[in-house]
Amino acid sequence: MEGGAELLFYVNGRKVIEKNVDPETMLLPYLRKKLRLTGTKYGCGGGGCGACTVMISRYNPITKKIRHYPANACLTPICSLYGAAITTVEGIGSTKTRIHPVQERIAKCHGTQCGFCTPGMVMSMYTLLRNHPEPTLSQLNDALGGNLCRCTGYRPIIDACKTFCKTSGCCQSKENGVCCLDQGINGLPEFEEGNETSLKLFSEEEFLPLDPTQELIFPPELMTMAEKKTQKTRIFGSDRMTWISPVTLKELLEAKVKYPQAPVVMGNTSVGPDMKFKGIFHPVIISPDRIEELSVVNYTDNGLTVGAAVSLAEMKDILSNVTRKLPEEKTQMYHALLKHLGTLAGPQIRNMASLGGHIVSRHPDSDLNPLLAVGNCTLNLLSKEGKRQIPLNEQFLRKCPSADLKPEEILISVNIPYSKKWEFVSAFRQAQRQQNALAIVNSGMRVCFGKGDGIIRELSIAYGGVGPTTILAKNSCQKLIGRPWNEEMLDAACRLILDEVSLPGSAPGGKVEFKRTLIISFLFKFYLEVSQILKEMDPVHYPSLASKYESALEDLRSRHCWSTLKYQNADLKQLSQDPIGHPIMHLSGIKHATGEAIYCDDMPVVDRELFLTFVTSSRARAKIVSIDLSEALSLPGVVDILTGEHLPGITTNFGFLTDTEQLLSTDEVSCVGQLICAVIADSEVQARRAAQRVKIVYRDLEPLILTIEEAIQNKSFFEPERKLEYGNVDEAFKMVDQILEGEIHMGGQEHFYMETQSMLVVPKGEDQEIDVYVSTQFPKYIQDITAAVLKVAANKVMCHVKRVGGAFGGKVTKTGVLAAITAFAANKHGRPVRCILERGEDILITGGRHPYLGKYKVGFMNDGRILALDMEHYNNAGAFLDESLFVRTVNMYKEIDQTPYKQEINAKNLIQCWKECMATSSYTLRKAAVEKFNSENYWKKKGLAMVPLKFPVGVGSVAAGQAAALVHIYLDGSVLVTHGGIEMGQGVHTKMIQVVSRELRMPLSSIHLRGTSTETIPNTNPSGGSVVADLNGLAVKDACQTLLKRLEPIISKNPRGTWKDWAQAAFNESISLSATGYFRGYESNINWETGEGHPFEYFVYGAACSEVEIDCLTGAHKNIRTDIVMDVGYSINPALDIGQIEGAFIQGMGLYTIEELNYSPQGVLYTRGPNQYKIPAICDIPMELHISLLPPSENSNTLYSSKGLGESGIFLGCSVLFAIHDAISAARQERGLPGPLRLNSPLTPEKIRMACEDKFTKMIPRDEPGSYVPWSIPI
Ligand SMILES: Cc1cc2nc3c(=O)[nH]c(=O)nc-3n(C[C@H](O)[C@H](O)[C@H](O)COP(=O)(O)OP(=O)(O)OC[C@H]3O[C@@H](n4cnc5c(N)ncnc54)[C@H](O)[C@@H]3O)c2cc1C
Ligand code: FES
Ligand code: FES
Repeated sequence: MEGGAELLFYVNGRKVIEKNVDPETMLLPYLRKKLRLTGTKYGCGGGGCGACTVMISRYNPITKKIRHYPANACLTPICSLYGAAITTVEGIGSTKTRIHPVQERIAKCHGTQCGFCTPGMVMSMYTLLRNHPEPTLSQLNDALGGNLCRCTGYRPIIDACKTFCKTSGCCQSKENGVCCLDQGINGLPEFEEGNETSLKLFSEEEFLPLDPTQELIFPPELMTMAEKKTQKTRIFGSDRMTWISPVTLKELLEAKVKYPQAPVVMGNTSVGPDMKFKGIFHPVIISPDRIEELSVVNYTDNGLTVGAAVSLAEMKDILSNVTRKLPEEKTQMYHALLKHLGTLAGPQIRNMASLGGHIVSRHPDSDLNPLLAVGNCTLNLLSKEGKRQIPLNEQFLRKCPSADLKPEEILISVNIPYSKKWEFVSAFRQAQRQQNALAIVNSGMRVCFGKGDGIIRELSIAYGGVGPTTILAKNSCQKLIGRPWNEEMLDAACRLILDEVSLPGSAPGGKVEFKRTLIISFLFKFYLEVSQILKEMDPVHYPSLASKYESALEDLRSRHCWSTLKYQNADLKQLSQDPIGHPIMHLSGIKHATGEAIYCDDMPVVDRELFLTFVTSSRARAKIVSIDLSEALSLPGVVDILTGEHLPGITTNFGFLTDTEQLLSTDEVSCVGQLICAVIADSEVQARRAAQRVKIVYRDLEPLILTIEEAIQNKSFFEPERKLEYGNVDEAFKMVDQILEGEIHMGGQEHFYMETQSMLVVPKGEDQEIDVYVSTQFPKYIQDITAAVLKVAANKVMCHVKRVGGAFGGKVTKTGVLAAITAFAANKHGRPVRCILERGEDILITGGRHPYLGKYKVGFMNDGRILALDMEHYNNAGAFLDESLFVRTVNMYKEIDQTPYKQEINAKNLIQCWKECMATSSYTLRKAAVEKFNSENYWKKKGLAMVPLKFPVGVGSVAAGQAAALVHIYLDGSVLVTHGGIEMGQGVHTKMIQVVSRELRMPLSSIHLRGTSTETIPNTNPSGGSVVADLNGLAVKDACQTLLKRLEPIISKNPRGTWKDWAQAAFNESISLSATGYFRGYESNINWETGEGHPFEYFVYGAACSEVEIDCLTGAHKNIRTDIVMDVGYSINPALDIGQIEGAFIQGMGLYTIEELNYSPQGVLYTRGPNQYKIPAICDIPMELHISLLPPSENSNTLYSSKGLGESGIFLGCSVLFAIHDAISAARQERGLPGPLRLNSPLTPEKIRMACEDKFTKMIPRDEPGSYVPWSIPI
């Protein structure tokens, strides 16, 4: 073996040689910090978000083929990259050379908003095109399955990618033999002809063609290296870890003898997360490199032998091939494996993870192990002692020493037998999200009958997710052998299995009753599937399935998404240069796509920079008994640790916030994640290691108030309590025909902006000046709190924000606290300090949308009119009806009406949106179709629901709505504009440039915007509340009009002149070419005593109609179609506005359906990253999405009569919740369970399944509340 090897690989066509490589380094920090390729982003560090996607290419000297695959750089150890070529977003194109068609199209199709996810999306798409230059839509959807985006709602990204497909632009569905293009748009009324409305937000004609010959070639040097047979084991080492890469089987076995405890790292997708998140440390790692024997694929007489190093993606290809070639009866197991390989993780993980790693890591929720275990698979092992075969059985899965690999053994390959005639295998799984989510329960089932007799000869059933390992229901299966395949057998099987696979009420992961139900629901599905095949094989002997029960068979699968958009064309009377009303691309779109857009952590390291990380409370309510910093302080690189004693008397009480939270807690903590101390070290790694060594002793305090109910009981409320009264509710209740009372609970939501909290503070070294570069929505707050902490005047603190990688309200106050502490550290040490939160820390520290409880009493007439409503709203602010369409219609605002706080409104446009949504969605026709479907299908139900939206826009006071701008004209005729708004993806800077362009009648290309800074615009309000463009736009407009007024005489003297001429002339005449603009804010008031006022300037109206299908047996749901009609006034930029509507709608859909925060009974948040907390992914978007903007009707005093609509679309996501509710009601009705149904949000698979009560939900054992400690509690 050779020690101290050199690591050699290529990045973007350039050779990288590392002499002193640290095996603990992952590719992501290496690219970002060492190579300064910051296009690849950090979003989670655990393979769950795709922000770090790169393409890895490897040459195989045996097949002579190059394999290109997408990978998560955050889980790729650099030592595993010897001989590989890495391509990052910078390697495929840039604005300085040539942009790649993928980059161009994602930007021009408006597929970027905050842009933080974009490089990852680009690289997933690019890799797909390297392998398939003309992909199909299903390849495209698969390729993007491992990439999350929180802003766009995915539709524009899919639109961009679709332009590479052979057939694009239609639904690609040939259901019933017709596609959308054949039948109009799925029965939608045709949009009006002519130039009034547009359906396209981009023009394909201007796209660069994709030319595969232009791509980077695989480095010939790497090919030559791979062909050379004389390589030896490579060893890389640091003080802490040794990485051994054997290149022959012999060397691998020798290494395993020497280091029997060392893991054999293949994809590192199991070992990596364990090391990172569970603190498991391995001093030695063995990572085989291209050992032929581990990559074999052999077809034997009995089955297929697949090498342990074969990736799950390669395995998918191999099995697809086999199933195409062999008769179906031989490939039952392969079909079942393929089904799970289609949804297991995302493509990046599937390409990295190996079959051997998957099997040996034996995750309790492994998708493949239950199947391999029921399929009589065997494992071929090898050690220096020789070969051995062991069965992949329950003992192996339970890691029984007698059935496991010995420490010095290696798994070489896996034998997966062919199935026989009369043998059937099926795979089932249900997860929180359809794709890229670990299963809640999964299962592999296999049955073998005697030849044509329908008598069970062999039966194997295994489950994942229901215990600490994969569980086999062996005894139950044994007892069923010899029985015929009929309903009595099924009934017995359910009872036996529920008994054998018993889950305690407190089982980890919770959802216990749901899991129990799934166990037998899957069994029922298997029973039906097999019965169906038996019937096909022998129609005489086997009874046919009643057609309405067939609906249990098919899994809900999303088809390809397609969409139509409709918006008003710009006014024909407009000047041709005037960009207002045009779908102008996001100003930073191309830079997002090339990775050149700079976010806070992309800024280069400043000389002598330090890193700061926090130690937070692990208790929800406790006294801090002691904090021991000694061990942490003694570690190398540690510079200082700040505690509350360094920051005495400073709280978060500034300006608009009256909260008096200590920045760092010293005595007491009142939530998990509360900041206790800040560790400052020379590097991030050193700071994080030291933080783990800070020892805190707590004493728990009582009472622990976690849930809303507990807060009500303990009268623990934040004041002031607010009350609104309209009319006399007591009198009204006396008049109504009926009264309904109840409660509704809504879960909270994590912001899940893709860029975690980030800041860099640089002391300037003179006059106590300090620069704070930070990802925030509220620079002024950062300035104020920093100035207070440093005890300097605000004029010494400058806060700069170039752009923010998503915020959604989460980057306001907490960011201020984090920045102030970072600034304190920077000031104390006179050195720059960077603080970037990891995803888990971010979620824990920052909080999110509050859980909510509504207690209602509603009085209504028999004709559906609601006359009285008494509602108590409770919001869990943390430490510190089956409504029919008719009911919604009769209770809607009338044209001129009053809100509960007696503000007069004109709801004409609300009624218009509602009517148009009814029409475009063909509601009545589709409602009938849904009812027909429901009557014909017992186990699947559809639901259709439409909701209206009235979203108030305003910020509560005139002062809170003031905004300012600064516009400079330079002598060359170019313009620099600044305003107080923050660019967080919503495109405010793009809109501001459009405003300047209209006002000064100059092309967009002459106008520049550098970012937001307290240096240029002082005293800004926070960016939020949907009004950023509106308010700042009015200020920008004001500045431009001041300039125009000043320059009028000059322009009129030379009307054909250019801006350069006019600027020079103005300069010569000593006319100032710089102006500030101001908007004082909209009139706004509310008197909480009388409950009256005019708090809002205007209302955004809209309506959404959604259709879903649910699987009553599993709780899965599929979003079939959504139609949205919105009144946005005169849209300044329809591409950005539609983007905001869609993005918010999808985020709302997540809120109401799949996003679920789980807390332990001690108040510890479990869901701290994308692997536990599921935001919508590409598989969740409606298969059809139609968005139209209502033609503008009225002029108002807003910016060009536009409306701000960042947040409003979130609410429309509840149309999906109500559609699911509708579907569940249909199921319950059919099962004889009519009556009102109370369903809380989010309507997760668990809630859907458990609400569709049936014989299976009745069969499961239930635990008495209070008889066990649940794993999680609803807070
Ligand atoms: C984001 C994410 C999502 C995921 N989603 C899913 C999912 O939906 N469904 C699912 O089933 N799984 C899922 N997984 C788990 C994934 O399938 C496993 O992590 C993966 O298959 C492990 O393979 P690997 O090659 O990366 O293993 P590694 O991490 O490299 O190794 C894992 C273990 O296997 C041992 N090992 C590896 N090869 C050998 C060998 N040849 N001989 C002896 N021992 C060996 C190692 O010693 C180590 O202990 C997910 C993982 C991630 C990170
Ligand atoms: S950062 Fe790598 S997947 Fe999220
Ligand atoms: S644009 Fe995708 S996360 Fe913001």
